[in-house]
Amino acid sequence: MNKHITFHNHKVNQRDRNKMNGHKSLVIWMSGLSGSGKSTLAGDVEQALWEKGIRTYILDGDNIRSGLNNDLDFSDEGRQENIRRISEVASLMCDAGMVVISAFISPFKSDREKAKAIIGDEQFVEVFVNTPLEVCEQRDPKGLYKKARAGVIPNFTGISSTFEAPENADIEVRNHLNSRYSSCQQVVNFIEDRIVES
Ligand code: PPS
Repeated sequence: MNKHITFHNHKVNQRDRNKMNGHKSLVIWMSGLSGSGKSTLAGDVEQALWEKGIRTYILDGDNIRSGLNNDLDFSDEGRQENIRRISEVASLMCDAGMVVISAFISPFKSDREKAKAIIGDEQFVEVFVNTPLEVCEQRDPKGLYKKARAGVIPNFTGISSTFEAPENADIEVRNHLNSRYSSCQQVVNFIEDRIVES
């Protein structure tokens, strides 16, 4: 940080915003391969929480890469910067009182660890959407695996770019084995206690 920067603590803080909202804020950090079902799960979890009166916001790979991060590519460095910026945005939104649901491949362990450090341990819930590569490739909802196999898309996660699977995620979702509803409930049940405002 530049040494001439002074951080301001404003009068109204996260605690006040959480009180007003009637729930704590946190970040549900989903990672998994392309086609693993992150966005579908994020949408389902958001709807379930929304129906309970929880203030939510989804940060999603394709959407953020269409705007804020449209200058970044899929090189290792591009992905690192992508996750760094998203971590900072998620942290701000958490401070603003939201339950943030982030859905990015976030393939590198070190970047997920940095995200956790930026957001804060107690506000970070890691969800591994653990759908095997074969299943994701079979689904291929955007036709990207086909293009990656044909060499049209370089650095494609799982094919020509590494995915370091989370080893100690708080929640592991296996949506190819369980129903869509129970995958969603797995996440909602886990976080419900964590957002109770005391
Ligand atoms: S990352 O690795 O976290 O920086 O990726 P993310 O920001 O989540 O973006 C993933 C979406 O970008 C599309 N896409 C690619 N994914 C992986 N590798 C390559 N090379 C690539 N090129 C484009 C793809 O639609 C991903 O969306 P999801 O929802 O994961 O399928």
